[in-house]
Amino acid sequence: MGFWEDRWAENKIGFHEGKPNSFLEAHHAVLAGAPRVLVPLCGKAEDLSWLAERGHKVVGVELVEDAVRAFFAEHQLEPVITVRGALVEYEAGAITIYAGDVFAATSDVIGQFDAVYDRAALVALPPDVRPRYAEHVRSLCLANARILQICFEYPEGHREGPPFSVSEYELRHLYPGAKITLLETRPDYRAPDDPLLKDNCYSLGL
Ligand SMILES: C[S@@+](CC[C@H](N)C(=O)[O-])C[C@H]1O[C@@H](n2cnc3c(N)ncnc32)[C@H](O)[C@@H]1O
Repeated sequence: MGFWEDRWAENKIGFHEGKPNSFLEAHHAVLAGAPRVLVPLCGKAEDLSWLAERGHKVVGVELVEDAVRAFFAEHQLEPVITVRGALVEYEAGAITIYAGDVFAATSDVIGQFDAVYDRAALVALPPDVRPRYAEHVRSLCLANARILQICFEYPEGHREGPPFSVSEYELRHLYPGAKITLLETRPDYRAPDDPLLKDNCYSLGL
């Protein structure tokens, strides 16, 4: 099995907050009004239901199918399951999650989006994969789409990823031409006493 399959199989999912993310709650205005919101690398985040409750159609993509099954089971939802090429689509009401590799989730299969919510997705990927990921996310966005982007940041060598550190400087290289605004910085919730760890929340206008 791969790294993420092992993490889910062994229940080593410290990234799973079990409640809506507080940056999402504070800065939802960035996504407000978007009919469809993409949540790449979604795990079984509560954020999916939180977004659906606010009137969005929510589309998640998650590599590990057990995580997708767990999301629907834990919310007492019975999804309709359809194989779509390399992906398996799980759909219940306003929430659809595609089980499979995010790079297989192309716009001809999952459509294009007005808004993207990226929490623990970009920072879960190693440096050499991030440019391809950002380009892929862009290909899934409609003109003028916006991204609510949460990044973990720490000095090089301070700890090992994932989660990896992604600075504003890197973000600007990953999404050239985007209007990037830092909305809020907080001490990292995992280690609030470590001044070298920060959680940053940005809005990106494409
Ligand atoms: C750090 S977790 C974050 C999950 C979720 N965003 C959250 O906030 O709880 C990263 C997730 O991405 C998934 N993942 C990793 N690589 C992926 C890929 N290539 N395609 C889709 N999902 C992937 C992992 O299985 C894992 O559930």
